[in-house]
Amino acid sequence: MGQIIIDGGARLQGTVTVGGAKNAALKEMVAAILVPGRHQLNNVPDIADVALMGELLSHIGCRLQREGTTLWIVSPERLNPEAPLELVRKMRASIVVLGPLLARCGEARVALPGGDDLGARPIDMHLEGLQQMGASFRLSHGVLEGEALNGLTGAEIELSFPSVGATENLMLAGVAAKGETIIVNAAREPEIVDLARHLNAMGASVTGEGTPMLHVTGTPNLSPAEHTVIPDRLEAGTYAIAGAITGGDVTVTGCSPTLLRMELSKLEDAGCQVRKGEDWLRIEGPERPQPIDFVTLPYPGFHTDLHPQMVALLTVASGTSIVTENLYDSRFRYVGELARMGADISIESQHAVIRGKPELSGCPVLAPDIRAGAALVLAGLRAEGTTVVGDVHHIDRGYNGLVDKLRAMGAAIARSD
Ligand code: UD1
Repeated sequence: MGQIIIDGGARLQGTVTVGGAKNAALKEMVAAILVPGRHQLNNVPDIADVALMGELLSHIGCRLQREGTTLWIVSPERLNPEAPLELVRKMRASIVVLGPLLARCGEARVALPGGDDLGARPIDMHLEGLQQMGASFRLSHGVLEGEALNGLTGAEIELSFPSVGATENLMLAGVAAKGETIIVNAAREPEIVDLARHLNAMGASVTGEGTPMLHVTGTPNLSPAEHTVIPDRLEAGTYAIAGAITGGDVTVTGCSPTLLRMELSKLEDAGCQVRKGEDWLRIEGPERPQPIDFVTLPYPGFHTDLHPQMVALLTVASGTSIVTENLYDSRFRYVGELARMGADISIESQHAVIRGKPELSGCPVLAPDIRAGAALVLAGLRAEGTTVVGDVHHIDRGYNGLVDKLRAMGAAIARSD
């Protein structure tokens, strides 16, 4: 399944460039379902999840072609409105095809995603919103069968939590529905703002993106468009923390520091020196970080997908930190692996108490999910001796060239497949 082998102790120094945002690119690929023709996305990261979404779109009937970071998706007149279990299981984000398939085809069969590495992760808000827009669902042998024979109609939908996926599913459905859809308590993530820009370039009318109240007016006049995916703030944040944990001096280019305000300010609190420009940031890590507390929250709060990397940093802090996870019930699963490296962490429901130690000690560990996998690599950069991170396929879902990029900044790191 692939391993990353790290000899810890090197101080990272140099520049790293980040790619396009996974969590924006995946949904912008799905937008191609909405209208036949040739769609163009630029700055698409070359990661496993993008390949999986490509497989799903191919199953639905699209043809894909990639050259460098540009991806063309040719969407046909007739779609196969179906997402099979083997793809949905590998990537939960597949569920966002539900809304656009219902809007375009009046029917959709999507295998129920069930739980994943991060916990139960229900899709009740996706379904309730689409029902309000006129869809009906039944579950048959693990497959969710949706119907909207007269198409979808705009509605006012209140989300009980600003779910990223539900907001995107309803936005994608709303642009091809009849009338106006209002999403109240919508997610405000930058990836949603980027999806709105892409949909508007296709002729849609989405307003209020980046605020809790989204207005989407349906139109039959959508057309394919060209769009450039925003930079990946999670990849940028991971390299910033890599600089911090090694006491290094790392410059991240091709990123948007304004999208990482909370995370960078927490890194400053931990004793890092942070400098930034419009599309770059530079971080100098301290000998040993100071302890900090933080809670994960929807944007603009601290991103849950940077929580494990930050916890890795705090394992070597000069005191005790408390981290509260508010989005996922099983996000702390990786803590046992960090404990094998000598970290002192105790978990009490959604809180982690991290008692910083001077050193970590390298050993074999397993990556339980994308971000926890990255966190274990970062811990390995700091640890004394050799760390071998297994189950690297999780990391490949969200990072392109992690090993090469870290090696170029001085890490003693290699990969074996
Ligand atoms: C997206 C991101 C993921 C990130 C998350 C939160 C993608 C591909 N993934 O996931 O990396 O961690 O946003 O920023 O973009 N929930 C419900 N019912 C629902 C929908 C969600 O209870 O109908 C719960 C989930 O179980 C979870 C929380 O709400 O506990 C947040 O989920 P959501 O914002 O929907 O995240 P995703 O879109 O799945």
